[in-house]
Amino acid sequence: MAQDVNWYWQKVEKILHDDVHMIDHTKKVLEYVQQIASDQIGIGIEEKRRIEVIALLHDIGILAAEKKHGSRAGKFQHIEGPPLVREITKQAEEKPEFIERVAYIVGNHHNFSKADGIDFQILIEADMLVNLQNEKIKKNRLEEFIDKFFKTKKGKELARQIYL
Ligand SMILES: [Fe+2]
Repeated sequence: MAQDVNWYWQKVEKILHDDVHMIDHTKKVLEYVQQIASDQIGIGIEEKRRIEVIALLHDIGILAAEKKHGSRAGKFQHIEGPPLVREITKQAEEKPEFIERVAYIVGNHHNFSKADGIDFQILIEADMLVNLQNEKIKKNRLEEFIDKFFKTKKGKELARQIYL
């Protein structure tokens, strides 16, 4: 029996325990993922659940990255995230394809060129919606960036609403 979002939340909160910022960040990314996925035609219930799990687990390796490599940089998160993803999704009794897909996206989510599906795309858009304020993009390039980066209708709409 696979598990629902609440079950995953408990795991995530345990691993990110006292990092209020990361818990808050994960919560926001999950909300955006849900908004974008709900607006997207052709995403079934099971795919939506997988995308939610991806959002919940996408930064799960961040504390391990800091502990083992002394850095929260994406490349270290990409190393430390997937083993945690496999551990948690196995506990949740997910199917092997599910486990590998979530591990792949978590292990590559800062490499936008690796985005090879709508699930990956939705995650990076949701993450960017939260993080865009920290990106060093000049105001006059922002609109161009949003139009290029965001591919889903809802993602584009939200980015324009928040940042333009
Ligand atoms: Fe993130």
